Amino acid sequence: MMTVLRSVAAQTRPRVLPTAGPEISSCWFTSSPRNASTITFGERAQKEQKEEAAAVGGGGAAAGGGKGKEVASYWGVPPSKLTKEDGSEWKWNCFRPWETYQADLSIDLKKHHVPKTFLDKFAYWTVKSLRLPTDIFFQRRYGCRAMMLETVAAVPGMVGGMLLHCKSLRRFEPSGGWIKALLEEAENERMHLMTFMEVAKPKWYERALVFAVQGVFFNAYFVAYLASPKLAHRITGYLEEEAIHSYTEFLKELDKGNIENVKAPAIAIDYWRLPANSTLRDVVMVVRADEAHHRDVNHFASDIHYQGLELKDSPAPIGYH
Ligand SMILES: [Fe+2]
Ligand SMILES: [Fe+2]
Repeated sequence: MMTVLRSVAAQTRPRVLPTAGPEISSCWFTSSPRNASTITFGERAQKEQKEEAAAVGGGGAAAGGGKGKEVASYWGVPPSKLTKEDGSEWKWNCFRPWETYQADLSIDLKKHHVPKTFLDKFAYWTVKSLRLPTDIFFQRRYGCRAMMLETVAAVPGMVGGMLLHCKSLRRFEPSGGWIKALLEEAENERMHLMTFMEVAKPKWYERALVFAVQGVFFNAYFVAYLASPKLAHRITGYLEEEAIHSYTEFLKELDKGNIENVKAPAIAIDYWRLPANSTLRDVVMVVRADEAHHRDVNHFASDIHYQGLELKDSPAPIGYH
């Protein structure tokens, strides 16, 4: 399994941008790495910053307040200016060009871990029982459903990554890359949320529901991970299997015309390197592929524990989107 994961990871790993040089035009994006910025940007960046500050009334309104702008300038860390290959400005602060990737749509969506042990069955039926209230609440409002579920889906990776981080510190030992892999998953899930936020605007009571659900789920998953990482990863693996099912239903509704196949949000086009004319259907396809990767990573993690090993004993599938 590890071999398969590694080989797929190698195929899907984002292109690595050079780390030196002022501006690289041969890549999909041009970039000026942080280390180089103080050297290559130098006066030009500061001049641009001053011009920007002057343009917004000397206050850095775009950065959320004049003080933030002054602090950035004081420390001499100007925000790096990035441009796409076509020369247009890179406008996302929440992710950078080197974090983008093309989804591996060839991944097997039907793979399923058959529950055999008591813990597996417990994990499986826990997830199945959570689906019932979700189905009743959202019915066929898949856009809304996706957005709300992503607020939950981004929790396990962060909790697992955080606990492994603390364990690594406590024990003075490396993590085998699993901290990074799980935090990558959390970030990827959060990007799903940022994408669906553009398609479905949450209502006040939905936001309130997220508060409540997050409070319960974060703590429950935290305790579960402390008690049994093997169970926690298995639960996440099954949650991801359900996510694949939900997005498949979403696609069916789009194909039937029950959900309008609107233009893909700009953030999705840049994050997944989609063609400019992509639609919501294309976005759901790549998100579903991501969920299948999360399924594999979490079942894999659980299997490692089942073999009496710790995650650090088996290199993590970093970059396996
Ligand atoms: Fe997701
Ligand atoms: Fe996921």
